[in-house]
Amino acid sequence: MRRTRVWDALQADGPQENVLVKGWVRTRRDAKGFSFLEINDGSCLQNLQAVVDHHLPGAALLGDMQTGAAVALRGQLAESPGKGQRFELQVGEMELLGRADPESYPLQKKRHSDEFLRSIPQIRARTNKYGALYRIRSELSWAIHSFFHQRAFAYVHTPIITGLDCEGAGELFRVTSLDLDRLPAPEEREARDFFGQKAFLTVSGQLTAEVLACALGNVYTFGPTFRAENSNTPRHAAEFWMLEPEMAFADLEENMDLAEDLIVSCISHIRRECAQDLDLFARFVDTSLYETLDLVTSGPFIRLPYAQAVDILQAAHRKKKFEYEPLYGQDLQTEHERYLVETAYRRPVIVHDYPQSIKPFYMRINEDRETVAAMDVLLPRVGEIVGGSQREERYDQLVARMEEMGLNTEEYSWYLDLRRYGTVPHSGFGLGFERLLMFITGVHNIRDVLPFPRTPQHLQF
Ligand code: 4AD
Ligand code: MG
Repeated sequence: MRRTRVWDALQADGPQENVLVKGWVRTRRDAKGFSFLEINDGSCLQNLQAVVDHHLPGAALLGDMQTGAAVALRGQLAESPGKGQRFELQVGEMELLGRADPESYPLQKKRHSDEFLRSIPQIRARTNKYGALYRIRSELSWAIHSFFHQRAFAYVHTPIITGLDCEGAGELFRVTSLDLDRLPAPEEREARDFFGQKAFLTVSGQLTAEVLACALGNVYTFGPTFRAENSNTPRHAAEFWMLEPEMAFADLEENMDLAEDLIVSCISHIRRECAQDLDLFARFVDTSLYETLDLVTSGPFIRLPYAQAVDILQAAHRKKKFEYEPLYGQDLQTEHERYLVETAYRRPVIVHDYPQSIKPFYMRINEDRETVAAMDVLLPRVGEIVGGSQREERYDQLVARMEEMGLNTEEYSWYLDLRRYGTVPHSGFGLGFERLLMFITGVHNIRDVLPFPRTPQHLQF
């Protein structure tokens, strides 16, 4: 007999005979002659109320049908006389699939702190909040794929194991098959290692995405990304997901347009498709959530050259707004980014044309010879969500820049081939998937939007 998911049962057109539902007991409430079980199977936020008559054969099983237990219930889906639900399941037959010892089951009826739930990732997705969060996470992936599918971008897969440090920031995890307890002599290590050379987990799929963009036109890659930055902040994870579109023939302007359209479209998609789940966050996590989302979807983003951003920040600094003084030629601090977005403009801000000295080698140098065609999208609360640029497509410029930065141009010879053969202006960006999810749900710690977060000194399972 086919199982009906709670979501479908709750959406039914009318009463139905012989419905089989399987799920976990959220709560059991006993009344005279009856018990009420709230059943959740993960298909939606809402539970299905099941009513069990104590005269039912097998009603003795009820004793073990406590919070956390898995059950199979068969019965009649009927209009519910009670408040709060249209239908309830009047149980005719039931089976206990798996007990949950009430003495040790970690979830109780009360609300648990995020910190406590973080210590039990094997259980926390069974709470209302985390179940909703991971459903939204799933839908947000679909939102991204459908956005690019509609625009005919090719979805490409770029390697996770790489020999390169794309960003040049050196925050790499080394990959090796050598036995660290019995290492060969230093000069032999690379040759004796699995790939016969140094290998790392990727910090960005960009460079290989550029290769594919320079053949397929518009592409995107979307996958896990690894950074060994030792920053224990609520916005950094060692393993996170990055979305990276890359467009041949596109300049920085088009790149900014794409990032803006994408963010607005993702927010609208989640508001449309996950209204019930999102409501939980607007009620219990961030009561200004919808206002903040409206701020982003209700009008164009501000586009602000870096130099102008520093002017604004310095003026604010004179009124003692910041811990760190904003200086030309330095990266913006989180407090600076938040000031621009949350105070100066009260809108998302795209800062562009950063000084070359603080950006990676591949960004296109501007006419002024000092700035590059870079852009960062800043959102309220989460700060930087997107980093991208127009890429340097001119062979001589690129080589000069790489040499200046001490990169081995031979190692990048394949990358330079894109500039040797049919080079074209092209642009792309990286969007931090967890940061977008944090922004959309109001959740303020990246450890919570990742079901199994990896951060410094922390690796569960
Ligand atoms: O600004 P980033 O470093 O850009 C790049 O890696 C480019 N190669 C992307 C490209 O042009 N194709 O990273 C892009 C975004 C950041 O804006 C941020 O949202 C996210 O990735 N991000 C992180 N998210 C979570 N944890 C971390 N440790 C992150 N580091 C970057
Ligand atoms: Mg960045």
